[in-house]
Amino acid sequence: MIVGFTLNGSPQRCEVPAHWTLLRMLRDAAGRTDAKHGCGEGVCGACAVFVDGVAVNSCSVLAPQVEGAAVETVAGLGADGELHPLQTEMVARGGVQCGFCTPGMVISAVEAVRIGAAGSEEEIRHSLAGNLCRCTGYGKIVGAVAAYRDGEPE
Ligand code: FES
Ligand code: FES
Repeated sequence: MIVGFTLNGSPQRCEVPAHWTLLRMLRDAAGRTDAKHGCGEGVCGACAVFVDGVAVNSCSVLAPQVEGAAVETVAGLGADGELHPLQTEMVARGGVQCGFCTPGMVISAVEAVRIGAAGSEEEIRHSLAGNLCRCTGYGKIVGAVAAYRDGEPE
């Protein structure tokens, strides 16, 4: 079947089997490998993307469900070739090590700040509870999110 949607602002039509997940369609049909395949079962958050502005685990969404939707991966967050301010903070404050969790982490954190669910360290940690990181110990990620929330560049 053909699924029509917008991907980081550009119209996209992907021919995929109906049972494919959004994650598989993004990676294997649209070539968008910035959505990461971690657990594949909705647990790790590495595959998070925005669908119509809401963060979802793309491994838990079927491709046909995004027909007509606006899908945004982490690569779509920056503008004019610049990183999104949270990405800049993540790099500057050591919130990125191997980087595998980073795309999903950034998607979840941007949403948390946008909806007002990152007002304290505890809230940030709670908002990012569905995004697993094996490298950083989370502290530097939390610091980067707080700095982005407060608009205090490193
Ligand atoms: S790969 Fe989707 S939640 Fe882990
Ligand atoms: S930086 Fe390696 S998993 Fe988070």
